[in-house]
Amino acid sequence: MILSLDQGTTSSRAIIFNEEAETVSQGQYEIKQSFPRPGWVEHDPEQIWESQLAAARDAIEASSAPAEQITAIGITNQRETALIWDRVTGEPIYPAIVWQDRRTAEQCEELKSRGMAGVIGDKTGLVIDAYFSATKLAWILDHVPGARDRAAKGELLAGTIDTWLIWKLTGGTVHATDVTNASRTMLYNLHERKWDEGLMDALRIPRSILPEVRMSGGDFGACDKQWFGLEIPIRSVLGDQQAALFGHTCLEAGSAKNTYGTGCFILMNTGTEAVASSHGLLTTIAWGMGDELYYALEGSVFVAGAAVQWLQEGLGLIVAPADSEEKASEVEESEGVVVVPAFTGLGAPYWDMYARGAIFGLTRGTTSGHLVRATLESLAFQSRDVIGAMEKDAGMPLTGLRVDGGAVRNNLLMQFQADILGSDVTRTTYSETTALGAALLAGLTSGVWTREQLESFNKAEKVFSPQMEPEERERRYNAWQDAVSRTMGWEKH
Ligand code: G3P
Repeated sequence: MILSLDQGTTSSRAIIFNEEAETVSQGQYEIKQSFPRPGWVEHDPEQIWESQLAAARDAIEASSAPAEQITAIGITNQRETALIWDRVTGEPIYPAIVWQDRRTAEQCEELKSRGMAGVIGDKTGLVIDAYFSATKLAWILDHVPGARDRAAKGELLAGTIDTWLIWKLTGGTVHATDVTNASRTMLYNLHERKWDEGLMDALRIPRSILPEVRMSGGDFGACDKQWFGLEIPIRSVLGDQQAALFGHTCLEAGSAKNTYGTGCFILMNTGTEAVASSHGLLTTIAWGMGDELYYALEGSVFVAGAAVQWLQEGLGLIVAPADSEEKASEVEESEGVVVVPAFTGLGAPYWDMYARGAIFGLTRGTTSGHLVRATLESLAFQSRDVIGAMEKDAGMPLTGLRVDGGAVRNNLLMQFQADILGSDVTRTTYSETTALGAALLAGLTSGVWTREQLESFNKAEKVFSPQMEPEERERRYNAWQDAVSRTMGWEKH
C-alpha cells in the first residue's frame, strides 16, 4: 500500500492506495483560514501538521491493515504557501503566508520598477507576483523582530508546506523540498537547477534558511517511528497541480489536464524542454525523476466554479451548483448570450486587472436558462483561451485534455468544452487525482509499479468528443473573444 498525504488550501487529506491504485481508506480534516487584514491569508502551521498527521492516522486505522504494509509515503501540497521556523525548537516564527495572500504586491511592483521582470522570467519561468513564495519569506524576515539576525546566525529554517511536513515527519532530520515546489518560489533557477545567487540577493533571502532541493520521485528520508509506530520512507514530493498532472498520467509531451475548482488550473506537459512563454503563461517543473526534469506550461483562470457560485449566491438562479446542468438544459443553446465572468480582472492570456464582468447579447427572450448556460460556457471558453496560448507557446497541438474537479460531473459543460476545443475531453474514473498522482510517483520510485503500469490506472470513465461543426466553433469562439475585448479596462471608467 502507498500512503498519500494531500495538504491542500482548505483541507488535509490522507488516502491509502492498494497495489491496483484503488482507494483503501482515507482521512480528512478542514484547515482554518485566517484573514487578518484585507488581502491577507494565513494558515496555522501547527494545525496544518496536526491535521495532516491525524488524517494519516485515521486512514491507517480505517484500512484495517497493519502499517507494515505501507511501502512508501507520497506528499503533495498547496503550492507557494511559505513559512519560517526555529531550527531547534521547531516553532514557527509567524503563521504560514498562503499563496492567495496579496500583502507583498508593493514589493513586487518595486521589483518590476527595478527592471527585474526579464531576468526573473528567464531564470524561474515565472512572472513577478505576490503569489510566489520569495516575497512572503522576505516579509516574515522583515516583520518578525530579530528574524534577520537569527537567520544570519543559522537559527531559522524556511520552506513551503512540503518542506514543513517532511521536516515534521522525519523528526526534524530532513530539511528538503522537491523541484516542483522550488520552481514556485521565484528563487530557483530552472536551467541551472539550483537556488539562484542573484535572485537570493535581489530578494534578500539568505541561502542558509532554504531547504535542499531533491527530485520529486526520490528519497526524502523516513518518517519517525513515533508517528505511525514504524519508519516509513517518503518517496515522492510534488506540488498539487503537478501531482494532478501525474495522477492523470499525462506523462507525454502535449498531454494536459484541467482542474475545475474555484478557478481552473491548466497544465500541459512539455517534456524535457523548458518552454518559455510569450503568452503570459508560467513555465514550471512538472516533476523530476532520475536525473531528468520534466517541464510544464501552466495557466490559471481566476473565476470558474466561482462563476457558478455567483449564479447561486449573487443572482439566486440556482439553488446549488449541481443544479446548473438542469437549468442550462432548459434552453437548446445560449442564443447569442455571452457571459464574461471577469470579476477580478482577467488572467492568462489577457492579463488585464482592470477588466470587469459583463453579459452580452440580451434580448427580450433571454431567460435564466440562457444566463446559466452562457455562464457554464464561459468556463470552457476561458479554458480554450489558456490552452490556445499553450499550443502556440509549445508549438505542439493538444493531444487531449483530461479533467478533474467539481464541475466535471456536469456533462453539458464537458461536452461544450470538447466542442469548443475541437479535441477530446476525458473524464477519468478516479476523482482524487492529486492524491493519486503523489501515490503513483511514490510507487514508481519505490519499485511498486512500472511506468507502463501507471498508464493502466485512472482510466477514462467518459470521453467527450467534439460534435460541433468547425465553422460553428470558430463563430462562437470569435464572439467570445469579441466580448472579452469589450470588458478590458472597464474598471478605469
Ligand atoms: O498554486 C496554488 C495551488 O497549488 C492550490 O491548490 O487545490 O490547494 O487550492 P489547492
